[in-house]
Formats: sequence, structure tokens, C-alpha cells
Amino acid sequence: MPDDMGRLPYDLDAGDEIPSNTSANPTFAQIAERRLGRRGMLMGGLATAITGFIGAGSSPAGAQGATAAATARPVIGFKPVAVSAADTVVVPEGYSVQVIIPQGTPLDGTAGKALTAMSGAEQGAAIGAHHDGMHFFPIEGRAPDQGSSTDGLLVLNHEYVEPRFMHARAVGLSVNSGRLPLVDGKRPDDEALKEVNAHGVSVVRITRGADGRWAVVNDPRNRRITGATPMDIAGPVRGHALLRTKYSPDGTRTRGTLNNCAHGVTPWNTYLAAEENWAGYFRNLDQRDGRPALPREQARYGVPSTLTRYNWDQAAGGADEFLRFNASTTGADATQDYRNEPNNFGWIVEIDPFNATSTPVKRTALGRYAHEGVVFGPAREGRPVVAYAGDDSMNEYIYKFVSARPFNRATANGSLLDEGRLYVAKFNADGSGEWLPLVHGEGPLTAANGFADQAEVLVNTRLAADAVGATKMDRPEWGAVDPRDGRVYFTLTNNVRRTEAQVDAANPRANNQFGQIIRWREQGDDHAATRFAWDLFLLAGPIGNSRIAGSGTITADNITACPDGLWFDADGRLWIQTDIGEREQNTGALEPFGNNQMLAADPVTGEMRRFLTGPTGQEITGVVTTPDRRTMFVNVQHPGATTTAADWAAGRTASRFPTGSGVPLSATLVITKNDGGIIGT
Ligand code: FEO
Ligand code: CA
Ligand code: CA
Repeated sequence: MPDDMGRLPYDLDAGDEIPSNTSANPTFAQIAERRLGRRGMLMGGLATAITGFIGAGSSPAGAQGATAAATARPVIGFKPVAVSAADTVVVPEGYSVQVIIPQGTPLDGTAGKALTAMSGAEQGAAIGAHHDGMHFFPIEGRAPDQGSSTDGLLVLNHEYVEPRFMHARAVGLSVNSGRLPLVDGKRPDDEALKEVNAHGVSVVRITRGADGRWAVVNDPRNRRITGATPMDIAGPVRGHALLRTKYSPDGTRTRGTLNNCAHGVTPWNTYLAAEENWAGYFRNLDQRDGRPALPREQARYGVPSTLTRYNWDQAAGGADEFLRFNASTTGADATQDYRNEPNNFGWIVEIDPFNATSTPVKRTALGRYAHEGVVFGPAREGRPVVAYAGDDSMNEYIYKFVSARPFNRATANGSLLDEGRLYVAKFNADGSGEWLPLVHGEGPLTAANGFADQAEVLVNTRLAADAVGATKMDRPEWGAVDPRDGRVYFTLTNNVRRTEAQVDAANPRANNQFGQIIRWREQGDDHAATRFAWDLFLLAGPIGNSRIAGSGTITADNITACPDGLWFDADGRLWIQTDIGEREQNTGALEPFGNNQMLAADPVTGEMRRFLTGPTGQEITGVVTTPDRRTMFVNVQHPGATTTAADWAAGRTASRFPTGSGVPLSATLVITKNDGGIIGT
């Protein structure tokens, strides 16, 4: 709801999903309150209450047979950097940064031109916008983390766009970071194409030269997957009536992937792009009795009934590729219009980066929601493949997929993701947890309750999760699995819709602006188990209103807020990236945290240090190292997005990253240690 400033508690332009969980399921906070009791929490104070939760991890009720964490701890040896509000990248003493592949960098290794001078087609052959989840695939590699540390395919998501930085006509307009005004009531076609083409995924070969600097190499595998690239649908929803469109009357194909936030890497060395805040790219103008009348598979995901995010559906030429973003009923049946087009989004998309002619595949068995990303448990021969994923919207859920067929390294491929059981997490008040099956015919997921088959369960994953009683969480973002003990970590970035009545130990702040990191251990250390034990690893926030598990303490060296990106390196360092929203950065309660940052933590001792701070207006997101851990890639997304409309009209931007001139651009940082050592030591 708008506050007294007329602002909504989410920011569509800044990438937030529209909150749409109207179910009566208890929130995580309500469950935590039941566990400790509200009076006990208030009397015992924050520290006691949180210790109670973290203590659950040391004696997990459900984790039988858990192995002790390795005794050799990862070295976190760098000198922490201070909080910063400066328009620059800061790394610890003894480290260096190179910036590569800003938006608009041609994939053929040529110099390119200014972003505003590029055509839509040229953008489609160049690095996209808003770099996000990312993986480095060693060039000769057969496994995700083995092979060359000087030559590989960097694969990265492009989450969304900032139109005013992309189009020449935006210069001098009083516009914020969202959509541009129409021209004669329409979107110019090439603007719409350029924005579609700035979305999706880049596959780009990069190598390290003799001088230690990295550069793009023109390679036949270099490729852009965009918001318009043809894709196949696989899994239980393939061919279902709910996917039929004018483009694909049999419901087996679609065009493009949108709002790809975090990513995943399969045990068979392919890339997964998650479709996060896709709902706002569509609109449905259907009405009944003068009110919006959206089907449940759109309403539960917040498809707008007014305008789309970038007005692509209003492209001047009326081309089908743009009209499809209008999901209104305009034809005689679903094969004559795009009423079902939103059902082709919200999935996990598999891309084989080593095969430039391969068609990306949407893997529907993993469910449909605002997929932040996906992370796999360790692949074990003869055991199911297990993947965890979060739904990043306020009060949404955490899921896991367990394959029906066992992993066999010699034959494993994406079809393993087409058959299996999808579960959603329920966090019990006693520190135990349950994975509730989202399987047609089990529990309430029956035809009598509106789920005719498994495809309907999957298209309506959120409604199915509501029905089984999943736990509402504080915006689940990235997940990561500790390579040492198999514990699963998830960031819960914030939840400003939490009320005073819901304050408790696990979510101890109303209007939770700071977020936390939850973790769990599967029963018997079996990732396919249906029970687990959970605790909180980090309660982020200011000194005195934050806490970390283990013997760690929160100080000026590691205060942080709004954890989002999360990744374990092979030594067991947990890298934590932050996404304080544009409206909150360097102001109010978020002022002490400065610009968005990245930290490294030891998950057992709780030692945590700030490793990097980014330029103004951006978020730090996406992190991976080369297999030798001596080169790290980190993305800077949406620098300068805090630029006000008035400043933009006056020719000023809040950031000049990365070049110091021109419009700010998302780009990738290459971080090395000057002595050639392992990053983080
Ligand atoms: Fe795209 Fe949930 O961050
Ligand atoms: Ca994110
Ligand atoms: Ca985020």
C-alpha cells in the first residue's frame, strides 16, 4: 500500500516483485514467535532470543548422522575495507581490480560504440544490461569448477534495463530509472527491441593475457540469449493448454527469458538462468463488472492490469514479438492471442554454454514463481539430483526439487530436471523443518481443490504452496551449499511489510529493513530428505541490532544489510553480497551501510569481513572465481540508478562508473591479489 509519501513498499522500476501472497499461511515471524513466545522474546531481549535460534543448529533435532564440519577453517586474511559512499570500487590493500564487459561491449571483441548510439540489433550482439548471476566455465572444462583458470566462457544474467541510459532521446528528459514516456502514444520499435535485447544472458569467452589483464575473445560460442530467443518447454507443463499461444499453439515453445536474477550451475556443466520479476513485463486488461479479471495464474503473481514495465506491448509497429506482452483476451481462443504468454515465464531456463546452436529449455518441473536463482546439493553417484530455490517476493517461499532418476555422471543431462518431486519449506517453531510435497494427488493438491493435474500444480506453484501450508519468508534470495558440511544457506533480504504484531526472535524487527541469512541441515545429511533442522546464521543490521552465529561479532568491519548474493568458494568461504534498494541507500536507517558491498565469512566461526564496496547507486551481485581461486569475477549492477529525474534532466548522474564519463553502466569486476594468491586469504 502507498505510504504517506505516496510510495509503495516495493519498487517495480527497481526490480521488486509485486507482493501478491494473500493466503492465510503463517509468516516465519509468527512461527518463530510461537516457538519462543512473544512475552519471552520481549523479556529476554534480542540476544537471548536469537541465541535460542542459533543454538538449534548445534543440536539439530532433525539432522541425524551429521558429520562435523572440517576442522581446517578457510583463511580470511585480508584487511577489511570501510563502509563507503564514494563513487568507486574499493577492495582490500594488496588487491587490484580490472573492469570488463560493460553493457554494450560487442561479443566479437571489437571496440563498439556508445550505448546510446547502438541500434536494437547491435545491442543483441553485445553484452546486455544489469549484470547479475554469473559463472565462469573453464574452456576445456567438463565439470563446473575444474579446468583452466586463464581461459573460459563467462556466462552472466542481465536482469533488467535502465532505459534513460540506453536511448539518445532520453537525454534531457525528466525521467527516473523506469520506463520512458511514449512518443505519439507508442514505444518506438527500435527502443523496444533494444530493451528486449539487453535482457537475457551473455555467453562470452574471456582470457587472461600475458600482462595479467582479461579481454574478450571472438569465439563461435559467444552468444546472446535475449528476451526474444526461441526456447523449448520441457517437463510436466510442456504442451499443456495453459501454455498455448498464437506463437506456439501446441504449448511447447516460447520466446525469450526475462529478469534473470541469480543463476545455477548443473552438475553436468550447464547454466541455469532464473526468471524473477517477470510478471510486470505483461499486462492484462480483461475486466468483469468494471474490475480487473485476471486468471489465478496471473493474479497470484501480480501481473498488472494497467501498464507493463516498459510498455513493449505498445511498440509502434505492432509486431507480434511485442504485442505478446499484452496478455488480454483478444482472440477467439488461446491460440489466437497471448492470454497465456505469462505462463511461459517464471521458470528455470537451462542453457548449454558450450553449444551455441542449442535451444534454451525451460524446465517446468522446478515450478513457476519469482525464481531468484537455483543451487544444487552435491551430486552423488546413484542418488537423486537436488536443487534449492527461493521465490523473491515478500512473504513467499523456499522450494526444493528432488529428481526422480539418480545422478550418473557419465550420462547426466537436463532431462534429470524434468521428472521429480517439488517441495516447499515449512519452518517449525522448534527448529525443525519439513519439505511439503507439491505433487498432484497428494494432500490438498487434488482436482477437487482446483488442481487438475501436475501441470496445474506447477503453473500455480505459489497457490499450491499456499494450500499445503508453507512458511512465508522475508524475500528469499540466493542460496548456497557449504562444500564442507552440506548445510544450505539462503539470504532473506528484507521485508518491509512485517508489522509490529509479527516481531519475534527470528524476525526481530517490524518493517524489517536489514534482512537475515537462514541455514539448515537435511536429516541424515541427505539432501533428498523431507525433514531438516534450521537456524539463523546472520541477523543483519547496525551494531547493537545484528548478530552472527559462531564466535563472530558485528563491528564496523562487517556491519551489513540486505544480504542478496551468496556463494561458497571451494575453501568454504561464504561470500555475501548486498542489495540495499535505491531509495534506501545512504539514507535513513540504511545510511550506516553506505553503498552496496561484499563480505567474506567463515560459516562456522562467524568471522566476517567486508571485502569490497561498490560505486554509487548500484548493487553488488554475482560472484565466482576461476578454479584456482586466484581470479574473482564480481558484478556491479545498475550504478547510478539513484540519479533523480531532475538531476538526469540537468545532465547529472549519481555515478560515472565505470569510465568516469558518459552514462553509468553495469560491468564485471576482475579482482586479483597482487601477490597472485588466493582471493580472500
Ligand atoms: Fe533480483 Fe531478488 O534480486
Ligand atoms: Ca538478487
Ligand atoms: Ca535483490
